[in-house]
Amino acid sequence: MVAAAQLGVLAACVVLFVPMGMAGWHLSRNKMLFFSGALFITLAVGVHLTPYFPSIPHLLSPSPSLLLPPPSACLPFLHRLSWSHSPPPPAWAWSPSAHARSCGFQRLSRADASDLLRGSWILVAGDSQARLLALALLRLLLDPPSMATVESDLFRRHSDYHLALADRGIKLDFVWAPYESNITQLLRRDVRPAPQRPDVLVLGAGLWHMLHLTDPAQYGESLVALRRAARSSLYPVSPHMFWLGLPTLVNSMLNTEEKRERMNRTVWEAYNREVDERMIVRGSGGPFLLLDVGMLSRGCGRGCTADGMHYDGVVYEAALHVMLNALLIESQQRI
Ligand SMILES: *[C@@H]1O[C@H](CO)[C@@H](O)[C@H](O)[C@H]1NC(C)=O
Ligand SMILES: *[C@@H]1O[C@H](CO)[C@@H](O)[C@H](O)[C@H]1NC(C)=O
Repeated sequence: MVAAAQLGVLAACVVLFVPMGMAGWHLSRNKMLFFSGALFITLAVGVHLTPYFPSIPHLLSPSPSLLLPPPSACLPFLHRLSWSHSPPPPAWAWSPSAHARSCGFQRLSRADASDLLRGSWILVAGDSQARLLALALLRLLLDPPSMATVESDLFRRHSDYHLALADRGIKLDFVWAPYESNITQLLRRDVRPAPQRPDVLVLGAGLWHMLHLTDPAQYGESLVALRRAARSSLYPVSPHMFWLGLPTLVNSMLNTEEKRERMNRTVWEAYNREVDERMIVRGSGGPFLLLDVGMLSRGCGRGCTADGMHYDGVVYEAALHVMLNALLIESQQRI
């Protein structure tokens, strides 16, 4: 209302002073009256017609959908999170960049995540990192009371876990598979002959191999076998496939002497190099999109881990949202 009144005052001033100014430029009184009348009519017609063209401002600024970059262009920016540490607890958000805005990255609510995953089978297999990601997914999908019972089940170490959310048609399986060879077996045994294949596959292992075998080259070879099993068992229907990267290890905080000795920085880097070089992840020609837990855990920092290896829920929550946004992007692409 205020804006309309101001506009009215402005219009009145224009009608009054422009012709007066022109009169100062030696226009005759008739011409002045003519200009005054013409201006008045133009403004009046303008004012009355404007409501019938409410879309004019929209036409001037291009619609946001025209400005959206192609979805795959957004994938490289998914991990650009910034972390805040004070006040505690640590929290993450996408760095306020043009990419985060134009790609529309979003923290999904329970309802949005349920819509996205409706009717899907999600298979998570691997070590404790994979278990923590499964837990983050359940935390998002379930309300706190249902979560309480689930947590005690899922936290039982070294066991599988299955949950079906009948109301949303979502099925989640967690398969305890601490070694890559366990995952490979699972892909060959369970996934290939099944009439139904998982829609989303999240895999990740490496810490057990690092601790008990400490042999990067052999780890690399078992990754190759895993990749082949994934490719052949899931061909031609390839689900959305994610690889959980190794967490950043804080050596001084590892809780046994053996871990501190064997899981040092040099070994950790060698294991990461194998993931890069064995065509596991997309950037290097592999089928899996990397969920870079190494980067996310480093971002959260050593304050987010008690044992230098397993991080607080917020790290896996961030990894989960990277995954869900990748799914959003890829489902857009398939339409
Ligand atoms: C994983 O593989 C190891 C080594 O091959 C084997 O000893 C172990 O029983 C397997 N564990 C599971 C849960 O399949
Ligand atoms: C890291 O651990 C490996 C395997 O235990 C060992 O051979 C190597 O000397 C260690 N490196 C450092 C810098 O401690």
